Amino acid sequence: MKTYIVGNWKMNFTVGESSLYFHKLLQRVKSYRDIEVVVAPSLVALQPLSLQVDRHKIKLAAQNAYFQDFGAYTGEVSVSQIRSLVDYCIIGHSERRHILGETNKDVRKKVAAAVRNGITPIICIGETAEERKNGETTDVIRDQLLSSLSEIAAEDLSKVIIAYEPVWAISTTKSAKMATPDDIKEVLDLIHKLLTKTYGEKTVADTPVLYGGSVKVSNAEAYLSIPGCDGLLIGGASLIAPEFSDIIEIAKQVRA
Ligand code: PGA
Repeated sequence: MKTYIVGNWKMNFTVGESSLYFHKLLQRVKSYRDIEVVVAPSLVALQPLSLQVDRHKIKLAAQNAYFQDFGAYTGEVSVSQIRSLVDYCIIGHSERRHILGETNKDVRKKVAAAVRNGITPIICIGETAEERKNGETTDVIRDQLLSSLSEIAAEDLSKVIIAYEPVWAISTTKSAKMATPDDIKEVLDLIHKLLTKTYGEKTVADTPVLYGGSVKVSNAEAYLSIPGCDGLLIGGASLIAPEFSDIIEIAKQVRA
């Protein structure tokens, strides 16, 4: 299986800045057969970046998309409208769930729409600090994971990516708040167990499971060395070209 290094730019950069930054990344990033580099710019930058992209080096992702293909949904952009621009779409990011009110049902429909349109969904799941404190991590992960996949046929499981992003560990600079490799391994094991129990070992062998939450050059090696971790979803550090390209180099070394 490939190792995935995914940069989530969130709501940063104007269209012009995105284009300049992307140009910088294309110059820095080397292409490796076993590393899949993906960046998710703002929706407005997708079209110009799709003209600039060198898909051997970097693939594009959307940060969100709507599940209906067309129609009276003012302000939404559908998966089918962006299918010619991107290979991936982040779905159910915790900021969408917790700030913008996205539900498990929305996530499930978006995942199904992505697969239907030939786009690989990167499905984010993860517990909040409160849920973790209350010992609800297992229940939250089970609910989010299994409901997000409930409209997906078993034979399509290799067409989805799961990203474990504990909400409490996102965008922090305090090391006490960062997830340790042991914290992450526990949940990655749980995800693998749930997938295997529901779909069978052979079916899920090709489903990548990533980690995301305050990934930086300083912790990327430790996170990528966790058994069952097939890559990283990176927010803040993906906005700094040398950080992002160094993490790709670390991935190459860890997998060598
Ligand atoms: P972060 O964001 O790397 O800035 O913590 C990760 C994410 O939210 O996807």
